[in-house]
Amino acid sequence: MFGGKSNILRGSVSLALVILILLMLTLLVSEENPLRASLFDLKRQFSASPSTSSSSVCNYAKGKWVKDKKRPLYSGSECKQWLSSMWACRVMGRPDFSFEGYRWQPQGCNMPQFDRFTFLTRMQNKTIAFIGDSLGRQQFQSLMCMATGGEDSPEVQNVGWEYGLVKPKGALRPDGWAYRFPTTNTTILYYWSASLSDLVPMNNTEPPRLVAMHLDRPPAFMRKYLHRFDVLVLNTGHHWNRGKIEGNHWVMHVNGTKVEGEFLKDISHAKVFTIHSVVKWLDAELLLHPRLRVFFRTISPRHFRNGDWNTGGNCNNTVPLSRGSEINGDDGSVDTTVESAVNGTRIKILDITALSELRDEAHISGSKLKPRKPKKVTSNVTSTAPAVNDCLHWCLPGIPDTWNELFIAQI
Ligand SMILES: *[C@@H]1O[C@H](CO)[C@@H](O)[C@H](O)[C@H]1NC(C)=O
Ligand SMILES: *[C@@H]1O[C@H](CO)[C@@H](O)[C@H](O)[C@H]1NC(C)=O
Ligand SMILES: *[C@@H]1O[C@H](CO)[C@@H](O)[C@H](O)[C@H]1NC(C)=O
Ligand SMILES: *[C@@H]1O[C@H](CO)[C@@H](O)[C@H](O)[C@H]1NC(C)=O
Ligand SMILES: *[C@@H]1O[C@H](CO)[C@@H](O)[C@H](O)[C@H]1NC(C)=O
Ligand SMILES: *[C@@H]1O[C@H](CO)[C@@H](O)[C@H](O)[C@H]1NC(C)=O
Ligand SMILES: *[C@@H]1O[C@H](CO)[C@@H](O)[C@H](O)[C@H]1NC(C)=O
Repeated sequence: MFGGKSNILRGSVSLALVILILLMLTLLVSEENPLRASLFDLKRQFSASPSTSSSSVCNYAKGKWVKDKKRPLYSGSECKQWLSSMWACRVMGRPDFSFEGYRWQPQGCNMPQFDRFTFLTRMQNKTIAFIGDSLGRQQFQSLMCMATGGEDSPEVQNVGWEYGLVKPKGALRPDGWAYRFPTTNTTILYYWSASLSDLVPMNNTEPPRLVAMHLDRPPAFMRKYLHRFDVLVLNTGHHWNRGKIEGNHWVMHVNGTKVEGEFLKDISHAKVFTIHSVVKWLDAELLLHPRLRVFFRTISPRHFRNGDWNTGGNCNNTVPLSRGSEINGDDGSVDTTVESAVNGTRIKILDITALSELRDEAHISGSKLKPRKPKKVTSNVTSTAPAVNDCLHWCLPGIPDTWNELFIAQI
């Protein structure tokens, strides 16, 4: 009798154990489970504590691209609210999408899968700002799609007016955008500053309207709103050439006066000087804003072959990872300008150059909706419709999603 009772007891204990194990398995397996996410979060917090040495072996710039069935993180045909159609390759009729199915696995880094609910919860009451050129705008649009899962999100508020980001009369678009997720009070914004220098109209009476480009002064927008940011991601690079600077009628200034010396007239010197001076300014500001995290994103690589986008250059490879899939070794960043500027400061490097270099098949070149008109070879004026042969910008979803995952992992 007793034996029978204890058997029943044992039976129900093992049944309970089986149920418990099954329950835990379901929790671990189910994909968007908040409990699982928060467990990961907890682990992250421990592994990120300064007492562990794991950070010394973790370098997000080194690692490999791996196939992942859970990619992309959002749909390129559905994230219409945030994606510019020219960058949405699914909308632009690119025929192959194999490039969407990869994620970056950093070497020796504990990197949880991106989960938008976990991300927004972590970013409660926080403001994330992107300041930079069109590649920064791509990263901003990517983050908006990642944070909404690419779903229509009428609850997300346009709060551009809070930052003066409204379309001026007659302008094509505002200088940036700002959106707030009301459930977590998270704000994500972008401001266009291609050179990270302050641009001030010069008041000359005759056209063209010249603009003073103060290399030693951060953009007014950054100075004005820095105290409201919790995370800032900067980038610059592709506008530092004579064509862009002259086309925009930018006149380089330092110390409030026009640059005369030969050294800074060299545009590559001016670029290095500007990157160093904005980093130096931010490093000093961080003393006043200790909660702020600043990342400087390294240059995004171009993949034009046989010319430029004005001269019929292209990047027509469609086979993923034909340049290899791994970045190894102990050497530093390919972008030595950003690397040396942030060295010894509180500004963190977001080093995406080498890993993006491997992905020449993921540019928007190859989109078919706007076929490039045959151009007269005699003319080499800047083309304004580079839709098809764009080997600079990336398809979205795509490589900028990875930049965001890496930066979120490092916040
Ligand atoms: C949203 O967050 C900001 C800080 O970033 C805070 O000042 C504000 O009170 C918060 N608003 C709400 C409704 O929680
Ligand atoms: C967010 O801000 C609100 C209002 O100021 C506050 O009640 C809440 O505790 C804050 N949450 C976090 C996680 O800071
Ligand atoms: C141009 O005019 C604006 C407004 O009148 C003024 O604030 C600015 O200082 C002037 N810039 C220069 C370079 O004189
Ligand atoms: C700007 O001023 C500083 C300090 O007066 C000086 O050291 C520097 O050489 C000046 N730079 C240029 C480009 O004139
Ligand atoms: C890709 O571009 C190269 C160089 O312009 C060209 O020789 C080649 O035929 C192109 N390949 C395809 C598949 O279009
Ligand atoms: C960073 O600065 C240190 C100390 O000045 C120097 O030894 C090192 O070479 C620098 N590293 C890079 C990557 O510039
Ligand atoms: C056009 O290209 C040719 C050959 O590359 C060059 O010699 C010429 O200066 C260019 N013209 C303009 C206006 O840039």
